[in-house]
Amino acid sequence: MKRIVVLGSTGSIGRQTLDVVRSFPQNFKIVGLAAGSRGEKLSEQITEFLPEMIFCNEKNFLQNNNFDSSCHLVSMEEMVVQENVDIVVVATSGDVAMNPIVNAIRAGKIIALANKEPIVIAGKFLTDLARECQAEIRPLDSEPNAIWQCLQGDPSVSNVIITASGGALRDWDITELYNVKVKDALNHPNWQMGEKITIDSATMMNKVFEVIEAHWLFGLSWSQISVYVHPESLIHSMVEFVDGSIKAALASPDMRIPIQYGLFYPDRFFNPNVSRLDLLAQKNLNFSPLDNKRYPCFNIALEYAKKEGTWPAVLVGIDEVVVETFLNGKLKFGEIPKVFEKVLSQYVDHNDGSLKAMIDAVKWSKLNTYEIVNSIGDNDA
Ligand SMILES: NC(=O)c1ccc[n+]([C@@H]2O[C@H](COP(=O)([O-])OP(=O)(O)OC[C@H]3O[C@@H](n4cnc5c(N)ncnc54)[C@H](OP(=O)(O)O)[C@@H]3O)[C@@H](O)[C@H]2O)c1
Repeated sequence: MKRIVVLGSTGSIGRQTLDVVRSFPQNFKIVGLAAGSRGEKLSEQITEFLPEMIFCNEKNFLQNNNFDSSCHLVSMEEMVVQENVDIVVVATSGDVAMNPIVNAIRAGKIIALANKEPIVIAGKFLTDLARECQAEIRPLDSEPNAIWQCLQGDPSVSNVIITASGGALRDWDITELYNVKVKDALNHPNWQMGEKITIDSATMMNKVFEVIEAHWLFGLSWSQISVYVHPESLIHSMVEFVDGSIKAALASPDMRIPIQYGLFYPDRFFNPNVSRLDLLAQKNLNFSPLDNKRYPCFNIALEYAKKEGTWPAVLVGIDEVVVETFLNGKLKFGEIPKVFEKVLSQYVDHNDGSLKAMIDAVKWSKLNTYEIVNSIGDNDA
């Protein structure tokens, strides 16, 4: 029986993790649940899974809910280090779980990571720390999870190909992208995901983050990683080996499959609740290179990511603010690449290898991005 904590249990990945746990009650026990503002959803989950530890970022959560005295309210930092925790699933968004991840690594836990921002912000720091503390970081995100599966028993890698669905706007006329509506950018053809990652998919920033993630998690050089658009989202990524063979990991676009692999690794079990991929029903598997005109953020951001140091952290900060301001109508979709370029051109890297330097870079970039977005708003007025 593996004892699991889920950080971000009320979100898209969190709920799907609980669904996997629901399918295997003999194998997994939820010992901790943590959420942000959806107290009501968390309360339902507590009633169903009876965790010993809970965290909610909502102020009035405890006033509005009564729980058994065996259920304790603790911080996420405390929750992940308890002795009765085997696996910490990180399904939060943004960088809110950075300190809990560091604590979990120091405590030598298995970290099943869907949340890519922390590894993008501090990839070298976290992977070095994990090696030192003999903690395991298992990727749940479908693309790095696919690479991880392809690499099993096969270390002679030549390069990896990360696939991209192309996002909600992949078939739109490029001239119409500038003023695209929020609801259209959120209308992903293949995946049901949280809002942030769905917009990141439309701008292709999600793939920039996955390239950075693959660089750190699998120790690949930047030139070993490429991205192809694959609109069917059936091949989740591929690894080409030195002898020219290519392994691809295919599955239905259902996040419960990589989540289950991450929880059970190295074992595999039949789950009657996940959809199977019917290859005979597929007419085509298409691939194309990224079109820089459609996805200008990709090259802008990747060029800076490759400088390493605190640059990836700056990308995360900018991205968080551009997505937030796009979603609340303060920024146009077509203005997003300009904002990236402006903020990046003003940044001076202050990297001393510390986690603080990375966190400071995120803070700096958020502040400066708000300023630049506001100045665009002023110019428009
Ligand atoms: N969704 C996918 O299919 C998918 C696929 C691959 C990778 N990912 C990655 O996985 C991560 C999660 O994505 P998602 O789509 O599941 O996001 P989501 O639906 O927005 O869920 C985010 C979760 O984080 C919680 N949270 C936010 N602020 C918090 C805080 N201060 N303290 C504690 N919990 C907090 C939210 O709680 P409340 O809801 O209660 O506010 C929610 O449970 C992202 O990094 C994303 O890039 C997602």
